Amino acid sequence: MELREKALKLIDQYIKNPNLKKHLLATENLMRHLARKYGEDEEIWALAGLLHDLDWEITKETPEKHPLIAVEILEKEGFPKEVIEAIKKHNHLQGFIPETKLEKALYTCEEMTGFIVAVALVMPNKKLSEVTVERILNKFKEPSFAKGVNREIILKAEEMLGLKLEELAEITLKAMQEISEELGL
Ligand SMILES: [Fe+2]
Repeated sequence: MELREKALKLIDQYIKNPNLKKHLLATENLMRHLARKYGEDEEIWALAGLLHDLDWEITKETPEKHPLIAVEILEKEGFPKEVIEAIKKHNHLQGFIPETKLEKALYTCEEMTGFIVAVALVMPNKKLSEVTVERILNKFKEPSFAKGVNREIILKAEEMLGLKLEELAEITLKAMQEISEELGL
């Protein structure tokens, strides 16, 4: 079975919340774009994005196990090692240090998708097509807006990957607009 197909089956099995599924699809396409930018393996990077929060719902009561349960599941299912390592290290609360470019990208960039969802939801028609990079950057400076998004981690993309906030916002917005129908935004 193709790995993406296998990944989608696992997502259906472990994730009920449609918004979480959308977060995974958005992160998948963002990671694909980032891989393209850095000349890395798009399929590997996309898979890491797609599966990174696979155990979110099953670790709800035990957040200290996120994403270690996902790691166990994915090892059992035979997913590539670099995908599993990146997923393992993406939760900054675990204290792992991301080392490869893939690990650094997932670690610093995935929360930008959630931030852009929040920006879209305050637009007049709640559409991604109404969102601009300027708007994202302005909202990013408002500490009370989408408070749950950890700006510090996102800003680390610059030192870890040489990726400026503006460029990350641009790439993420484009990646999400491409699949706006699937995202329902
Ligand atoms: Fe996530």
